[in-house]
Amino acid sequence: MAKDGNTGAARFLPERRSLPELREAAAHCQGCDLYRNATQTVFGEGPTDARFMLVGEQPGDQEDHKGAPFVGPAGRVLDRALEEAGIAREEVYLTNAVKHFSFTLRGKRRIHQKPTVAEIEACRPWLSSELALVEPEMIVVLGATAARALLGADFRVSRQRGEVLELGEALAVATIHPSAVLRAPDREEAYKGLVSDLTLARRSCPCSS
Ligand code: URA
Ligand code: SF4
Repeated sequence: MAKDGNTGAARFLPERRSLPELREAAAHCQGCDLYRNATQTVFGEGPTDARFMLVGEQPGDQEDHKGAPFVGPAGRVLDRALEEAGIAREEVYLTNAVKHFSFTLRGKRRIHQKPTVAEIEACRPWLSSELALVEPEMIVVLGATAARALLGADFRVSRQRGEVLELGEALAVATIHPSAVLRAPDREEAYKGLVSDLTLARRSCPCSS
C-alpha cells in the first residue's frame, strides 16, 4: 500500500469519459507514490475506435521524458515485431498497466524497477477506463505485469503465452514483453516468439475476418 495513504486512481477519474478527458485527468493523478519522482504521466495512445489494444508494463526512461508509450528501445523492438506481424502501429491503441515510470537511482542512472502489485492495483482505474472506451476486440498482453493487471495472479506468461483467451467481451493473447526480448540469452528466438504471438493475435481478431 502507498506510504502516505493515497488510495488509487479512482478519485482522479473525470466525470465525463473521453480519451482526451481521461488523459488530462491522469496527468494530475496522485493515486500512488510513483508520480513523485517521475517526470510525467504517460497515458495510452491511439485511436478511440482501435480494434487492437496492446498493454505493456510501465513507461521506461525515454517514455518518461517524452510522455509517450513505447518510444525507447523496447518500443523499437515492438515496432519491428508489429510490422512483421502485419499490424499497423497507428491503428493500435497502445498503453501500459502502470502510467508512471518506477525506478531506482544508481548514481545518475535511473534503473527500471518492476511496479508492485499495489501500484498495479492503484493504477487500474485508468486501464479499465481505456478498455471501456476503446472496447477493443483483441487485447495483446505484453509481459507479466500486464498479465497481472488483466489476467490475474495465477496466470503465467511463460506457460500460457500464445493462446487465444477470453477477456470480458474481447479476446486476448499474452506474450513476452519486448524488453524481455532484449534481455533474452537467444534474442532472435525470443523475437520470433513475439512475432508469432502477435501474428496469432492478428489472425484471431474478429476484426481481421
Ligand atoms: N516498456 C513498457 O512496458 N512500456 C513502455 O511504454 C515502454 C517500455
Ligand atoms: Fe496515478 Fe498510476 Fe501514476 Fe500511480 S502510477 S500516480 S495510480 S497514474
